[in-house]
Amino acid sequence: MIKILYIGDVVGQPGRRALHERLERVVDRERIDFTIVNVENAAGGFGVTEAIMEELSELPINAYTSGNHIWDKKDFVDNYEHYEHVVRPANYPAGNPGKGRVVRATAAGVKVAVLQLMGNVFMPPCDNPFHCADRELREITETKVIVVDIHGEASSEKQAMGRYLDGRVSAVLGTHTHVPTADERLLPNGTAYQTDVGMTGAYDSVIGFRPEEALHRFLLNTPKKLEVAKRDIRLSGAMVEVDETTGRASRIVRISEKLDD
Ligand SMILES: [Fe+2]
Repeated sequence: MIKILYIGDVVGQPGRRALHERLERVVDRERIDFTIVNVENAAGGFGVTEAIMEELSELPINAYTSGNHIWDKKDFVDNYEHYEHVVRPANYPAGNPGKGRVVRATAAGVKVAVLQLMGNVFMPPCDNPFHCADRELREITETKVIVVDIHGEASSEKQAMGRYLDGRVSAVLGTHTHVPTADERLLPNGTAYQTDVGMTGAYDSVIGFRPEEALHRFLLNTPKKLEVAKRDIRLSGAMVEVDETTGRASRIVRISEKLDD
């Protein structure tokens, strides 16, 4: 049995602070074998940079996921070939840099595949994520331990993906909406599922940003630069236990660690 920790969207400096202050503690306490972190919002809420990847390299992280904001910082995208352990949605059109999946090993040598898909509902258009999942899973032959990040806005689409992949992957975990959902469960055929594992950042906010600017946009329908919020910082994610011989999950637990103010 191996334990996989999945940390949801890291939003700006407060999210990175949560990683630095709490990730190692959680990994030690829960005896985590493999850690995955979503970094698409790590640079001020939009994208990630090479400097941030360097900063995070000192932490016990095995693989990274991203999402629709992974393209926001040019320095990272231009050098994407250096970051094969940072996956981006597999269903972006062919020709984009990066890869939609990666296989990495735990310290004990257990291989874990990480695959990311992006929803099509209320999201930038991409290939059909369900058909893309079929194609990608056919290519993963090295291991039965497979974690899928479904990055999407609509809970219905994420739940449908969980059901579609139930019994074919170890976990289907949602990101992008930044709000942890209380629906973590084992699906009937052994796949762990949660609609959104929650963001790692400031929860006194509108999805990690100061309410003032977010409200300006909603009240006036005119642009206003969003500022990352700073209060009520939490590390948020899910911990999944998986039998490495079958790939079936036996347990999923929500993780929420509040930092001291
Ligand atoms: Fe996103």
